[in-house]
Amino acid sequence: MLLRLALLGGFAAACNASVDRAEPTYHRDIAPILADNCVECHRPGGVGPFSFTTYEEVAPLAATIAAVTGERSMPPFNLDNSGACNTYVGARWLDEGDIATLAAWAQAGAPAGEPAEEAPEPPAPWQLDRVDLTLAMPEPYTPDETADDVYRCFVLDPRLREDAFVVAFAIRLGRAEMVHHLTLYALDDGEDEAEAAALDEADAGPGYTCFGDPLVPSRWLVGAGSSDRGGRLPAGTGLRMGAGRKAVLQMHYNRMHGTFPDQTAIDLQLAASVPHEAFIKRVEDAYLELPAGEPAVVETDTREMHENFTLWGVWPHMHELGRQLRVTASSPDGEACLARVDDYQFHWQQFAFYEEPRHVRAGDTLRITCTYDTTGRDTTTTWGYGTADEMCIGFFYVTEGLVGAGE
Ligand code: HEC
Repeated sequence: MLLRLALLGGFAAACNASVDRAEPTYHRDIAPILADNCVECHRPGGVGPFSFTTYEEVAPLAATIAAVTGERSMPPFNLDNSGACNTYVGARWLDEGDIATLAAWAQAGAPAGEPAEEAPEPPAPWQLDRVDLTLAMPEPYTPDETADDVYRCFVLDPRLREDAFVVAFAIRLGRAEMVHHLTLYALDDGEDEAEAAALDEADAGPGYTCFGDPLVPSRWLVGAGSSDRGGRLPAGTGLRMGAGRKAVLQMHYNRMHGTFPDQTAIDLQLAASVPHEAFIKRVEDAYLELPAGEPAVVETDTREMHENFTLWGVWPHMHELGRQLRVTASSPDGEACLARVDDYQFHWQQFAFYEEPRHVRAGDTLRITCTYDTTGRDTTTTWGYGTADEMCIGFFYVTEGLVGAGE
């Protein structure tokens, strides 16, 4: 905290020169920024540690808020959304102007100002206009109390008679204050299903323990943080669910606000066909050998493309030592940036969809570079599924061919 306050002093002083208007006040300037960007999590029962809905709650935290927004650790979003390397649909990302306003307000001593007639409301929750299939945990599950973070996978049976495509989804959380995020995966063959069933069987209680992903070959279908109510996949695209195939729901529970029985459900909107079937492709470096005790261990690998693809979204994935991640594409035209993460937090796992889908062509080379901080380790860290293992993956949501932009 001391460090943050010190940083803030320098930052706010630098900004004051450029903020050319009356001192910001809570009611006029700050409450709307918080309602739009923070209150979905920082409210009673939300995933954030404190509520930001009244002046009395917010004012004592003014300096901390200025510090975390100035260093962009809040609102949480792993990818750079500045425009230097893409921008993303619905990104949790503050404008430079809002960051400067929060800093100037803290610097001015957090004045309240005149209360507005109506307090600003956070954006309305997402709703699905039609539900075709609901997948729910078969019974309530109460996380084990030995760990703060619990990752649990549940095998679900969608009972589809024909293949269908997920195009949109809505989440109905059992206990929102305990769910950090969830991910639904499709299983594509009987062997993978048998492996998941065996993991389930071997673990007492509903479901099985799983960190990072379901521990069996699987495909991402939907994902959401505790404050996301759902969403729509990019227009014209969808992800296949196979007839008769199983699915795995991975829940990440955080017990910061207590331990409760949770039974979460996901409503899906399906289409019998979509113009462009989407696939999850990955570029990864799976041969990790990270020596202990180094602040910046860099690993990199490439993948050559043999077909044209449209990239609609990206999900950067490392575990707890991951700090930076980059994916670039090189072609005869030069190098293009596909994903950039400057301050990776394992906590914030999600797909982010590009505002402008990207194209890669046969012959292009994708390169992933991951940087790790191993100063807290005393043995070599290698690739694996465990909390103490590492990964280096860029998952991409792709369709075949060059879609959009008149091509
Ligand atoms: C998606 C949910 C989410 C959103 C949106 C969000 N936060 Fe948070 N915030 C959290 C969680 C969870 C924590 C506690 C875990 C952590 O520190 O990473 C947290 C922690 C914090 C902390 C304490 C951090 C510390 O290290 O002391 C501050 C301050 C904060 N948030 C401010 C904000 C502000 C300001 C915004 C909006 C600009 C915001 N948050 C948006 C979820 C969120």
